[in-house]
Amino acid sequence: MSHTPSILFVCLGNICRSPMAEGAMRAAAEQAGLELTIDSAGTGDWHVGNPPDPRAVAEAGANGVDIAGLRARQVTREDFMRFTHVLALDDQNLRNLEALAPSDASAELALLLDMVPGREGEPVADPYFGGDEGFQQTWADVTAAAQALVARLGG
Ligand code: 4NP
Repeated sequence: MSHTPSILFVCLGNICRSPMAEGAMRAAAEQAGLELTIDSAGTGDWHVGNPPDPRAVAEAGANGVDIAGLRARQVTREDFMRFTHVLALDDQNLRNLEALAPSDASAELALLLDMVPGREGEPVADPYFGGDEGFQQTWADVTAAAQALVARLGG
């Protein structure tokens, strides 16, 4: 396995929370000069091939991060070998990932906010069915996680 840490963020649709996490992490790693492999995926397949939700693109863009070029994909069993860290945005997705993971998975599987001291066990709430303020909360959560991950990974 390579020494470059590789992080996969996983939510349900891969069009709201996990692409925002991917964008926030890319920005935080770049700012810290940290070399990481970063990707995102969904446990569901409804949105495969689609760009992120326009509200997610708008919120990331308002924070200086362009995620419009990302495209949704579904998580695979190979992801548990290819990535060193597989981070679920909420408990439902964590449980689905635990069920999908091969028994010899090498990736560390955890809840995203477990990376943030004092926020262990908290989910990143699904903003899909709500308003714009939900996407602002998502951005705040994934940014906190990205900063904590950079600190943890040596940035
Ligand atoms: P995400 O949000 O998991 O943060 O990408 C959702 C996107 C789509 C749906 C649910 C959540 N959906 O039901 O289609």
